[in-house]
Amino acid sequence: MNESGPGAAAQARYKQEAAEYAVQFIQSGMTLGLGTGTTAIYATRRISELYRSGKLRDIVAFATSRAVWHEAVKMGIPMLTEDMPQAIDVTIDGADEVDPQFNLIKGGGGALLREKIVAQASRREIIIVDESKLSRQLGTHWPVPVEVLPYGWQSQARYLESLGAEVTLRKTADGCEFCTDQGNIILDSRFGPIADLEGLAQKLASRAGIMEHGLFLNLADEVIVAGPQGVRHLKRGS
Ligand code: A5P
Repeated sequence: MNESGPGAAAQARYKQEAAEYAVQFIQSGMTLGLGTGTTAIYATRRISELYRSGKLRDIVAFATSRAVWHEAVKMGIPMLTEDMPQAIDVTIDGADEVDPQFNLIKGGGGALLREKIVAQASRREIIIVDESKLSRQLGTHWPVPVEVLPYGWQSQARYLESLGAEVTLRKTADGCEFCTDQGNIILDSRFGPIADLEGLAQKLASRAGIMEHGLFLNLADEVIVAGPQGVRHLKRGS
C-alpha cells in the first residue's frame, strides 16, 4: 500500500466511504463489534459521532483489539471489557484480501485472533474495503498471518515452510518482535495463490503452537467495496 501521495489519499477516501456506508446498518439498542485497522477506524469514528449527537442511542460495543478498545473509549463509545456479550448484532471490520466467495485474509494489523472470535459471535459480519483488496484467489497479494505461541515457534515456522510458505517473523517499525494482544508472535506466511483454502485452514488449525491463522472462510456475510466508481454493497448469493 502507498503510504503517501495522491493514490494514498484516494485510498483513504474509499476506506472512509465504505466505512460510512456500513454504519447506516447500525441501529439504536444494538451490540456492536468494532473492527481493527485503518478502514474500520473510520466506522468507529462515525459511530462515535452518531452516538454523541444522540442519533444512535443505547448502543454498547465490543472491540477486536486492545488498541481499538482504547480508541473507542476515548471517543466516548460505551465499551464492554473482555467478557463476551451473548450476541453481537453487527460487526464492521476490514480485510487485507477478499475473494469472490467473500473468503478473507485478515490480520495485517495483528488482531486476527480477536477478530475471528468476534466474527464467529456476530449475527452480521460486514467487511469494508477499498477495491485494491479484491482478489481472484487469496494469497495472490498478501501473506497469511499466523499467530504462534512464542514457545518453540521455530518448529511452527518450519511446519509452515513444509506447507510451501515463505515465512517472515513480523517485526514492529522499530525492529522489535511484534507481539499480539495475547503475547504471541506472528509469522507472515506467503503461500502465493492458495488453491485449497479449506485444506490449508485445516492444516493450520491442527498444529499445536499455532494459535490462529488469518484465513477467514465463510465468515463474512457481506462486503462493502469503495473505489473510483463509488460504493458497492456485495451480498452473499446476489
Ligand atoms: C487487523 O488485524 C486486520 O485484520 C485488518 O482488518 C486488516 O489488516 C485491514 O486493515 P486496513 O483496513 O488497515 O487495511
